[in-house]
Amino acid sequence: MSSRRILVLNGPNLNLLGTREPATYGHETLADVARLCAETAAAEGYEVDFRQTNHEGELLDWIHAARGAYAGVVINPAAWTHTSVALRDALVASELPVYEVHLSNVHRREAFRHHSYVSGIAVGVICGLGSQGYRAAISALIAHQGN
Ligand code: DQA
Repeated sequence: MSSRRILVLNGPNLNLLGTREPATYGHETLADVARLCAETAAAEGYEVDFRQTNHEGELLDWIHAARGAYAGVVINPAAWTHTSVALRDALVASELPVYEVHLSNVHRREAFRHHSYVSGIAVGVICGLGSQGYRAAISALIAHQGN
């Protein structure tokens, strides 16, 4: 079954975007990012289901329910990128193509941000491009569908 819906997931503290460390994450809010994602997808006839949570179990439940229901997942796992084997396992279990996005260039930052549990199971990884990274990931996901 090919779906024209894309699940965009955001991990902890990303609800604070716009006020949280603006020198690192910029001045755009998560609502701005959601709008950009929706516009990018709509231009190709796709819909976005855009979510954020500060609760890891909730994120896992969403990923479990996503199986078969979406064309793919774009995820900024935030701090769970660097800590969560459970997140990686859930994404594998979903059998959906995964695109990992980070607003900041994690490789220019602290060493603990250089390792990602998600990258090894992702189709692609984008970091350092701010909200444009979400746009690029959605475009790539759609292009890989063959429309
Ligand atoms: C982040 C990078 C992570 O290291 C950090 O924990 C975040 C945001 C980013 O978008 O740049 O919360 O995923």
